[in-house]
Amino acid sequence: QTGAFTYDPGFTSTASCQSKLTYIDGDEGVLLHRGYPIGELAEQSSFMEVCYLLLNGELPTADELEKFSWTISRHTMVHEQLAQFFRGFRRDAHPMAIMCGVVGALSAFYHDSTDIHDPQQRMIASHRLIAKMPTIAAMAYKYSVGQPFLYPDNSLSYTGNFLRMTFGVPAEQYEVNPAVEKAMDRIFILHADHEQNASTSTVRLAGSSGANPFACIAAGIACLWGPAHGGANEAALNMLHEIGTPERIPEFIARAKDKNDPFRLMGFGHRVYKNYDPRATVMQKTVREVFAALNVQDPLFETALRLEEIALSDDYFVEKKLFPNVDFYSGVILSAIGFPTSMFTVLFALARTVGWVAQWNEMITDPDQKIGRPRQLYTGPTQRAYVPVGQR
Ligand code: SDX
Repeated sequence: QTGAFTYDPGFTSTASCQSKLTYIDGDEGVLLHRGYPIGELAEQSSFMEVCYLLLNGELPTADELEKFSWTISRHTMVHEQLAQFFRGFRRDAHPMAIMCGVVGALSAFYHDSTDIHDPQQRMIASHRLIAKMPTIAAMAYKYSVGQPFLYPDNSLSYTGNFLRMTFGVPAEQYEVNPAVEKAMDRIFILHADHEQNASTSTVRLAGSSGANPFACIAAGIACLWGPAHGGANEAALNMLHEIGTPERIPEFIARAKDKNDPFRLMGFGHRVYKNYDPRATVMQKTVREVFAALNVQDPLFETALRLEEIALSDDYFVEKKLFPNVDFYSGVILSAIGFPTSMFTVLFALARTVGWVAQWNEMITDPDQKIGRPRQLYTGPTQRAYVPVGQR
């Protein structure tokens, strides 16, 4: 039963931090944002609503949502000089490398929103980050395909604006497909926050020193890029391509179970979920909706469904509680929408920015907050005397 939580001293002393944002019960497959189940948020709310919820603690009224969305839209453009940063990258640079560099560079542009002890400046930095990530993500994609950047069009929704900046071209009118917009918005909701995962902990640790908020988010982007974390969506689709047809699934299941083979089923397993990742459930449903809306037939989805079925009937995966996670199906949807695999983790970072920012604000405003200092268990040599090089 999830209700008001009271921490026993023992738990508090061992917990890395306390937070009111997100609750996960890995055994029961429960994920709540400020008490609301992820399935209900994904099905009934919008990403802007979830951003407001994570930042402010309550779902917005219609007026609050309209004002919040308008405020975010005021920050969607990036400084014209920031666009110059893209031109320094090779065209084949991974978009995550570009995003990491450009978001870090924001710390050189916005000196009026970096005093972390000023609530107004913290809020502006938070809004700027949430607003500019879609623009920077779209620019990274455009740069990689050699097309011109598109400026934001604030008459569109947050997600519609992103889709147009990504897939629109100056030569043609771009019509946002409502089914794609809804699926993309839902994918953003599913990736918004996830308690103290590796990249969020990175942002908190960087922020605990009082570092520039834009630099802290750049640190989170760097951590998320790893294939064991946010890079798993790109790795999962690459794995499905490598598997190809369902007939080859047993070969890869055997490899995943072979202790001498470093291969792992990407998109399976989780540090916390030892039951089904509730986000994967919504994601699988969304695949079917997007495929129907776009009239897409992708054999990879059939391979993914078959792989899940075989894995979940295999004793090894059942015993180790390795269920599909949020990354298993997301790549199939993003590929159907038209994103290259190299953009998958960029989209994860775009969505997770609100979680990073909300967690950063929570940490900064904690009156007991101190600089992070993870403990270590020393296992090196005991003290010994120096030996001059001629005597070694
Ligand atoms: C995300 O923390 C978060 O919240 C992250 C995230 C978020 O929203 O921020 O949810 C997003 O990162 C999801 C996870 C995406 N990563 C992947 O899908 C990569 C593949 N998964 C694995 O790398 C792994 O499952 C982890 C890293 C996700 C979790 O690893 P754990 O909890 O440290 O588990 P483990 O590595 O100790 O594995 C336990 C056992 C091991 O076998 P034994 O040593 O006990 O014999 O299960 C095996 C592992 O070898 N195992 C797998 C496996 N994952 C674990 N075997 C095959 N395939 C896999 N995917």
